[in-house]
Amino acid sequence: MIKIAPSILSADFSKMGEAVSNLKNWGADWIHFDVMDGHFVPNITFGPSMCSAVRPYSDLPIDVHLMVEHPSEWIIPFKNAGADIITFHVESADHHLHSVLQQIHAAGLKGGVVLCPATPIESCIHLLGDCDLVLLMSVNPGFGGQKFIPETLEKIRILKKAIQARNLNTDIEIDGGINPETARACIEAGATVLVAGSAVFKASDPSDMIRCLRS
Ligand code: DX5
Ligand code: ZN
Repeated sequence: MIKIAPSILSADFSKMGEAVSNLKNWGADWIHFDVMDGHFVPNITFGPSMCSAVRPYSDLPIDVHLMVEHPSEWIIPFKNAGADIITFHVESADHHLHSVLQQIHAAGLKGGVVLCPATPIESCIHLLGDCDLVLLMSVNPGFGGQKFIPETLEKIRILKKAIQARNLNTDIEIDGGINPETARACIEAGATVLVAGSAVFKASDPSDMIRCLRS
């Protein structure tokens, strides 16, 4: 079943508890939590304290997307703040990717890597056995509301084949510019989790939008 992970980057920051408590009623599966440090990406959002603040408002899994230079520094703080899943960028300054994944799993969380649009699938092939999910960016990280990069579809197809060839059931999460049209194309290409920020939070009927994205 396709999972929908609304990104709270597009929520009203002044009412984050309310935004998060709505997600389950709207039919969301995960809470996508975009962490930005102002170095890895030219924007700053929020950290573990926001995670612990919203944790009591929903029992949905919190899917932390670390857009930070040193992801390994944030595994325990986010674990303690109630996160369930942590993904980090292969392009970050933490070069020992397999070790960072081991640290995430040692903390009892699900873990995966994130690839920017220009980063080839080959960079995560040897990690697939250790990834619960792989997150493919379909926009350049840093901001919501951007346009879907169509070359992402080919990357999804290549990744799907690699996962099937290894008899794995690694989730393929797509992040950025997801709307009803791009959602359909991603699902057809093999995506299993869709992040949607502006499509959900700017929708007149978010529940209907989530239903539409999933179908
Ligand atoms: C961008 C974030 C995405 C973004 C998606 O750096 O990683 O999760 O919030 O927003 P939309 O769905 O509006 O493109
Ligand atoms: Zn994200």
